[in-house]
Amino acid sequence: MTTRFPPTKLPHILHGGDYNPEQWLHDPKVLDEDVRLMKLARCNFVSLGIFSWAMLEPEEGRYDFAWMDGVMDRLADAGISVNLATPSGGKPNWMGIKYPEIRRVNELGQRDLQRHRHNHCYTSPVYRQKVTQINTKLAQHYKDHPALILWHVSNEYSGMCHCDLCKAAFRQWLKKRYGTLEKLNIAWWSTFWSHRYSDWEQINAIDVSVHGLTLDWRRFTSDQTTDFMRNEVKPLKEITPDVPVTTNMMGTCPDNDYWKLATACDVVSWDAYPEWSARDDWRTAVSVGFGHDLTRSLLGKPFLLMESTPSQVNWKAVSPLKRPGVHKLTSLLAVAHGADMVGYFQWRKSRGSSEKFHGAVVDHVGHENTRVFRDVADLGQHLSKLYGVVGTPVPAQAAVIYDWENRWALEAEQGPRNSEKNYELTCMSWYESLWKRNIAADVINMDQDLSKYKLLIAPMLYMVRQGVGERIAKFVEAGGSFIATYFSGLVNETDLCFLTGFPGPLRPTLGIWVEETDVLGPDMPPQTLVASAENGMGLTGDYPVQHYCDLLHIESKQARPLATYGHDFYAGRPAATVNNLGQGKAYYVAARTDARFIDDFIAGVAKAANLTGAIAAPTPLGVSVQKRSDGKTDYLFLLNFTRQQQQITLDPGQYHDPLTNQPVQGDVMLAPLGCTTLQKRK
Ligand code: GLA
Ligand code: ZN
Repeated sequence: MTTRFPPTKLPHILHGGDYNPEQWLHDPKVLDEDVRLMKLARCNFVSLGIFSWAMLEPEEGRYDFAWMDGVMDRLADAGISVNLATPSGGKPNWMGIKYPEIRRVNELGQRDLQRHRHNHCYTSPVYRQKVTQINTKLAQHYKDHPALILWHVSNEYSGMCHCDLCKAAFRQWLKKRYGTLEKLNIAWWSTFWSHRYSDWEQINAIDVSVHGLTLDWRRFTSDQTTDFMRNEVKPLKEITPDVPVTTNMMGTCPDNDYWKLATACDVVSWDAYPEWSARDDWRTAVSVGFGHDLTRSLLGKPFLLMESTPSQVNWKAVSPLKRPGVHKLTSLLAVAHGADMVGYFQWRKSRGSSEKFHGAVVDHVGHENTRVFRDVADLGQHLSKLYGVVGTPVPAQAAVIYDWENRWALEAEQGPRNSEKNYELTCMSWYESLWKRNIAADVINMDQDLSKYKLLIAPMLYMVRQGVGERIAKFVEAGGSFIATYFSGLVNETDLCFLTGFPGPLRPTLGIWVEETDVLGPDMPPQTLVASAENGMGLTGDYPVQHYCDLLHIESKQARPLATYGHDFYAGRPAATVNNLGQGKAYYVAARTDARFIDDFIAGVAKAANLTGAIAAPTPLGVSVQKRSDGKTDYLFLLNFTRQQQQITLDPGQYHDPLTNQPVQGDVMLAPLGCTTLQKRK
C-alpha cells in the first residue's frame, strides 16, 4: 500500500485535477491517452468520481464498479494517486424521480424537479441512506487500492432546503438551543410585530423581519450540512480509517460556516476561480490570498487548492484567458499561502453539456501541443522541485477576523445603511495593507485562540458573541494590538442590541463610547478624517471617508484621538483613537476610509507592534513576498503581479534557487508577471 495522505511527509506537492473518465468509456483510447498526458503534464493526483453516481449505480441497488476499477488500476500503475469522491453532489435520475423527498424545496414551498446538481435535501433520511450505501460500497471496494490516498466528500456543499423534513429538524435544533419557547421568544425579540410563538410548530416560515430567526436558520443550515457530511464520512472512517477526508470549500462563500464544516475534515481544500487578467492582477491576488489564508486557518495547517482553472471558466459574463506567466504565478501564490496542492477543474474538457467550454488541461483537440498544456507541465516541473515545502506552515503574526455569523447578521440587519455594507470587502481592505507590507496573516473567526498574534484586526465586528469582548481585552492587556472599526459591538449572538452603550463588550477595551452612527450618501458633502498633530502614527493631512462615520466619546484616561472629523456638525470630534490597556493598544477607526489611510495606519501600528514582513526591505506595489517555514528552512515566494519588471532586495545571507540550483543573494529581478521560489537554511 502506498503512503496515505497526510503522511508525515507527502512525497511531493499534489498536482492534478477533476478527472471524469466516465464521460469517455465509449472511447477507451481516450483513457490510455489520459494517463500518457498526465505523466507529461507532471500530474500526480486526480479527483475521481465526483459526478459518477449514475455510472456507479445505474439502477437502484445494482452497482457497476468495473469501469472505475480499470481507471484506478491504470492510475496506480502510472504512480498517480486518487482523491476518490463520494458522488452525492449529483443524484441519478432514477433516484430523484423515485424519491421526491430528496429534491430540495424552495422558500415558497415548491419542490425542485429532478435536474441539475448540488440540489439535494440535507435532512432527507432516504438521501442520507442512499449516500451511506454508495459510500460504504466505494470504501469496501477500494479500501486496499494503492491509488486511494484521500476522500473527496461530495462537491461544494451549498444552498438550503425548506422542505418539511428540514423545518422539523430546524425546530429540534431550536429546542436544543433554547430549551423553552419563552427563551426563544426573548432571543428573537418576537413580541415585535406580534410574532410571538406559542407552539414550536408555528416556526415554519423564514421571516426576514425576525433577525434572530434568520440568523438561526443560517446556523441550522450550516450545522445540518456539517451533519450531512458527518453522515457521509461515517462509513469511510469505519472502513478506511487511515484515509483522510476533505471536502472542497469555496473561500468566503456565505452558505456555510466553514469553521463548522472543517471539523468534519482531516484536511481542508477549496476551489478558487478569481478573475485574472481582467483588471489589476495584484488586487485579485489580494482577494484570493485572503481566501487561501482563510482556508489554511480553518485547521491551522496546509490546505489543498482543489480546483482552479488552467485557463478560462465558462460561467462568468466574460472569462478572459490567463495571460502568459499568469498560471505559474497564481498557482505559486496558492503554495506561498500554504497550499500543498495545485488542482484543476478539469483534466479534460467534456465534449458536451454545460462545461464543454470550461478550461481544462487537455483541450478538445486532445494533444499536448497547446499553450495551456505547456503552462501546466511547466508548473508541474517547478512544483516537483519544491519538495521540502510540503507540510510547512505559514508563520503569521497578524490575524484578520472574518466571521460567518457576523456576516449573516450584518447582511440581515436593517439599519442606517442597507446598501454597500461591504463586510467582506472591508475585511479584505485591511488585509490588503498587510499584504502590501508582506506581513503574513491568518483569517480567523472571533472564537479562535488569539494569544499567538501580535496584531488582531476585527473590521465591522457588528456581532460580539459571549466571552469575545473579554478575550480581546485579555489579548490587549497581554501586549497585543487590536484594531476595531465603525459599526462594531452592536449586537449579541442572537442579534439583540447591547444595552450597555456601543461598542458593547468592546467598550472598555477601546476606551470609547459610540453614541451615534452617521452614514453618507452619494449626494452629501464630503467628509474627511484629519490627522491629529503628534498622532505618533505617521498619519498626515486629510483622508477622505465614505459610507460610515461613528460619533464617539473618548472615555478612558489612557485613550487619545489620532484623527478627528473635518466637516459637518461633528467636525473636530475623534475619528480614530488609541487606548493603552495593560501592555497593549486598542485602536478604533470610526469611519470608512480609503486605502491610503489604512496603509498609513497599518504602517504606524506595525511599527509600534514590531510586526515584520517576510523580508525586511519594502517591495513595489503589486509585488508579494510570502514565506513558509518549518523552523529549519525558510521557503520564500517572490511574486510579481505587475506588468513591469520589478526588483526585490533580499535579506542579507545566501539563498538557494531550487530550479537553477544556484545560490542567490542581494537583489532579485522579477520579469513582468514573473515569480521565483527561493530557500534558505536557518
Ligand atoms: C466548481 C465545481 C466543478 C466545476 C467548476 C467550474 O468548482 O466544483 O464541478 O463546475 O466549478 O468552474
Ligand atoms: Zn429538506
